[in-house]
Parts: sequence; structure tokens; C-alpha cells
Amino acid sequence: MAQGDLSKDLEAIVKPLVREPLLSIRPYVPGRPIQDVMREFRLEHVIKMASNENPVGPSPKATAAIQDMLQDLNRYPDGAAQDLRSAIAKHVGLTESAVFVGNGSDEVIKMIAETFLQPGDELLVPFPSFSQYDFGAQVMGATVVPVPLADGFQYDLDSLREHVTEKTKLVYLCSPNNPTGTWLTHRAAAHFIESLPEKVIVVCDEAYLEYVDTPDPLRSVEFIESGKPVLSLRTFSKMYGLAGMRLGYALGHPSLIRYLHQVREPFNVNAMAQAAAIAALDDEAHVQTSREVNRLGREQLYRGFERLGIPYIPTQGNFMLAEVKNGQHVFQELQKLGVIVRAGFPGIPEYIRVSIGTPEENEQFLKALAEVLGKIKELG
Ligand SMILES: Cc1ncc(COP(=O)(O)O)c(C=O)c1O
Repeated sequence: MAQGDLSKDLEAIVKPLVREPLLSIRPYVPGRPIQDVMREFRLEHVIKMASNENPVGPSPKATAAIQDMLQDLNRYPDGAAQDLRSAIAKHVGLTESAVFVGNGSDEVIKMIAETFLQPGDELLVPFPSFSQYDFGAQVMGATVVPVPLADGFQYDLDSLREHVTEKTKLVYLCSPNNPTGTWLTHRAAAHFIESLPEKVIVVCDEAYLEYVDTPDPLRSVEFIESGKPVLSLRTFSKMYGLAGMRLGYALGHPSLIRYLHQVREPFNVNAMAQAAAIAALDDEAHVQTSREVNRLGREQLYRGFERLGIPYIPTQGNFMLAEVKNGQHVFQELQKLGVIVRAGFPGIPEYIRVSIGTPEENEQFLKALAEVLGKIKELG
């Protein structure tokens, strides 16, 4: 069949039709897929430590649940995700009307922006942090106010508080923060939230909550229970190993949650994702194993970085930052050795972010890094 001729350039006609705020949005840069790197560098074995995925894999209970529902794929999913919301509600100790599910927490972040933000509104975000917060706000034409983290990428909540103005509608707190791995204590977050005007909504992104093993971790559900305008964001993409399924959720007072439904597509969470998530929530063994693999992997990488003399940022997530001077160069060179990490986060060009892998993956990464930096001897 002949291919249609698309050579005529319509840019001059189309561009003036596009909504103004969209013109300055820079596209999201995801971790590179394994296949891409295999093809580019003609490699047979490539490991991906770039997207904070669970190296253990998905819960076997979740994959079995997906298998079980395949013969029903001719049916639309339950648009209200009743069973899933009920399972999540039980898991977190809130009512179903406080649970809102989305096609990944990425979608929930966008829907939060669509629900609450318009031109003239301000959104406070820690910097550096997860880029999707900016994206949602930019789509809506709202103003993003980045508030730099302090030394060692620690939260500076006093500074965050000082940036609150009459126009501030939303404040994002991400703990553990992506890409830095640094975290908030519950006490500090509570003090901050208490200090805010009532009309400011705080979104606590707890995508990596299940990995946290520090004293006094952020427990944002307690803010919701005490009637604060707080939304908690969670995901099945990290600890639950279901990134490919796309499922995230928000928790919040029903008065907030009901408005998120105004921008929700009728069937935004597919049937496989719903079945998989219900099963994954019930698989405590998978969670325990994943947590332990991450804890040991974190120690392994800490020790490796120390031997190589590379400064790193202690983390409470399943990833960490290492200071390698020229992040982009190290990222490129690591790919040639079959290891994909991330670099090029705004404001921190000297760092790479590596996701914690299996013991074998961590070992391969450390060896490759030593080679790239000419430090093979130090690894011993
Ligand atoms: C802090 C944070 N929030 C949200 C997400 C998005 O998760 P999901 O896969 O549920 O869209 C990520 C993914 O990397 C993340 O790091």
C-alpha cells in the first residue's frame, strides 16, 4: 500500500492554533528502554537501573490475577473501580470515598492540576523534584514556583513556607523525594502544614513510601484524618512492581476527591490493572522480599560508592544520587557497558541517579562505573 505523502509542512498553520501555555512545555525524558540501548550499542545484555522500578518483578499473585481476567477483556472495566477502591480503602484505613484511582499517579497529578489550577495560580514545588508536577501546572497555564532544597538536598520547609503567597493553590511535598532520595519526618511536615493558610492544598507524593525505614516517616493519611486539605499520592509502580500496568491513586477528604472525578475519563483504569492491584495488595510476601532486596542493595551501593570514593546522597527510596562530576558523560559511557541509569536532571548536572537493583545488577553497575571512572583498582 502506498504511504500517504505527509511532506507538506503545516507548522505555520497549526502552531497559532495551539494553546499558548503548551508551547513552552519540554517533553518528559523517560529512562531509556533496554531494547533501544541493545540496538544502539549492539549489546546482548543490558540492565536498566533508570526508572526506579522493582527489580524483583511483579507479585506472582498479580500476574495470576491478570491471567484470570483475560477472557473478560471484551467487557469494559468497572469505571468506578469499586473493588479496587474498597481494597485500597481497607489497606489505608480510610473510607472508599476518600480513594481516587488513576492510570498511574502521573495521570492523577495531571488531574489534580486540571481540577485546581488555572492561569494566575501558583504551585510550589521542591527543586529538584519530580517533573510531572510542573507538567500538570504548565498544561493548565498556572505558574510553577520551584523552591530549592537546602544542603544535601534536605527539605527547607521554612523557605517553602516563605514562598506561599495569596496566589498559592497547591504545594507539593515528595517524600522520599525523586530524584534525591531525601525525605521528610512526619513532625516537620505536620508543623509545615499547620502553618499554611487553610485554602492551600498540600499534595504529599509518597510513591516510595513502602521503602521507608527511617524513624518518624511521613504519614500523610493522618493529615487527611484530621481534616486538612491534603492529598496523598501512592502508586503500584514501585514496591508493587506494576509499572507497566499503570496504576496510581490519591487519598484525600471526600470533599476534595469528588472534584477530581469531574476530570476523570469514565474508564481511566483498565481491567487488568484493577485485578492486578487488588491481588498485589494482598501479597505481603512480595512486599517483604522487595523491601529486603532494596535494603541490601542500598547497603551494597553505599559500600561500592565508598570504595570508589564517590560521594552519594543517603536515600529512603529505591534509587540514589551519586556525584560523578559529569553526569551526562558517565550516563553515556555506562550505556556502552550495558548499564542504563539517569542523568541530566535540571540543576544537578554533576549527578547520576541509579535505581537500586538485584545484587547482580548492583555489582555489574559498580564494575561498569569503576571502569568508566578509571577506578577498577579501588573496587578490589
Ligand atoms: C515521586 C513520583 N511520583 C509519581 C511517579 C509516577 O508514578 P506512576 O508510575 O504511578 O505514574 C513517580 C515515578 O517515577 C515518582 O517518582
